[in-house]
Amino acid sequence: MTALWWQTGVIYQVYPRSFQDTNGDGLGDLKGIERRLDYLVSLGVDAIWISPIYPSPMIDFGYDVADYCDVDPRFGTLADFDDLLAQAHQRRLKILLDFVPNHTSDLHPWFAESRSSRDNAKRDWYIWRDPAPDGAPPNNWISDFGGSAWEWDEVTGQFYYHAFLKEQPDLNWRHPAVQLAMYGAMRFWFDRGVDGFRIDVLWHMLKAADFPDNPANPAYQPAMGEMHRVIQVHSTDQPEVHSIAAEMRAIADSYGAQGRGARVLIGEIYLPVDRLMQYYGRERAGVHLPFNFQLIDAPWEARSLAKLIADYEAALPPGAWPNWVLGNHDRPRVAAKRGQTQARVAAVLLLTLRGTPTLYYGDELGLSDVEISSGQIRDPRELREPGLALGRDPVRTPMPWDKSENAGFTTTKPWLPLNADHSTRNVAQMIEEPQSILTLYRRLLALRRDCLALTIGDFMLLDGAADVLAYERRHRAERLIVALNLGGNSQRLQLPDWAHDCRILLSTIDDTEPVEGGALLLRSNEGVIIKAG
Ligand code: NOJ
Ligand code: CA
Repeated sequence: MTALWWQTGVIYQVYPRSFQDTNGDGLGDLKGIERRLDYLVSLGVDAIWISPIYPSPMIDFGYDVADYCDVDPRFGTLADFDDLLAQAHQRRLKILLDFVPNHTSDLHPWFAESRSSRDNAKRDWYIWRDPAPDGAPPNNWISDFGGSAWEWDEVTGQFYYHAFLKEQPDLNWRHPAVQLAMYGAMRFWFDRGVDGFRIDVLWHMLKAADFPDNPANPAYQPAMGEMHRVIQVHSTDQPEVHSIAAEMRAIADSYGAQGRGARVLIGEIYLPVDRLMQYYGRERAGVHLPFNFQLIDAPWEARSLAKLIADYEAALPPGAWPNWVLGNHDRPRVAAKRGQTQARVAAVLLLTLRGTPTLYYGDELGLSDVEISSGQIRDPRELREPGLALGRDPVRTPMPWDKSENAGFTTTKPWLPLNADHSTRNVAQMIEEPQSILTLYRRLLALRRDCLALTIGDFMLLDGAADVLAYERRHRAERLIVALNLGGNSQRLQLPDWAHDCRILLSTIDDTEPVEGGALLLRSNEGVIIKAG
């Protein structure tokens, strides 16, 4: 089979509030993304996933959708979206939207109807339950943002379920009319030409039909956040969810499964590998890519990373295509977690592993978590459980384009503060610097484009020296070795015989890597790619 664009390509996540403002309100917008398309093309990515742009009260910044088939005026209009899509397609860039099927906003007209009375036709579109005999919530399920996941509704005398905020009631996906309405929303965007969706919290979509209590989590510590008080055995990852994923896949495939017109579905799923793999599909195909978030939290240690990669590769079902993620709008940034020098090594890792990489906007600048003072907090996650470092504002700050007062992001005060170092950490400056992490990303992306070994080649781990993660990527006669020194000491990596005659393609430090007597001398915190022959 010829590889498809979503297999060979690189996905770039845009958090639209923070990418580029064009109308001076301090919030990014669709015209802003359009303005920066040429940057994305020159960076070398293939597809953009845009976090939600639908009309929303923005209590969870767009993950509370009030209308699945329109654009929030803060971001622009449907016509702006059509323009953006056309401009992207002209540049051979694909566009993925963020589909949020698990819950709507409480201001969605469906919920207004549903909560209006017990006999409303849409009552069962959401999850309504009677209180426990003592008047308490129906069970012990806890919202991912803390507190009971059940909200009492005075008017109709029942609780409704919300896995996230009370302003995000969960839809009842067991109801055929809900399924139809939501599939219709997917079709609305596919008809306009979108190339796929990232599906929000796919593993949450179905809950156990009889709503039993979740078991207590023996490892719970308050610092983890209240959601971890219980293990989400009954509230998530129910077997029936796979038939919904399969329906969505059938819809996507009906718009294109092969060639340039293929559509793609990416599932947001935080689960251990064995359960994650189920989302590729069982009897019927599921999502094309269940997001693999393991690198975000993994210990940054060569042996355990090697094991993680080997286990993931080994667990892939036949025909399943791998993928890797280093960061997103919910998790600490890679530069904050790993430090600036290892962020460069991580860039090499992300872009040379087998499978589709997803790059989070700003990570190509080594953007770190930005300190948010108490008066600047916007994220409801932080506001609900303050001080546990669970807030997501630090990773959602505006993209710094240049060194001007508002970094070229806006002409006014941005909705979240800029990175304090934006006078030097910005696109305009770093694009000119041969040693910047941005230049490194651009070189890596260019190299990927030129090397079939990196996009579709086989993957084999090599024996690494201490602190060195090393692997081979191979396509026919093209053989590359990637060697990543995750530690602060220099290392000597014995090369296999076939690689003794080799040349350096790229180093995270500079490209004068000595190969000596069949060994590669790696400096501290250095990642290299070499090519045999
Ligand atoms: C996952 C999204 O990535 C996150 O930002 C959001 O708060 C929750 N889903 C709820 O939609
Ligand atoms: Ca704006």
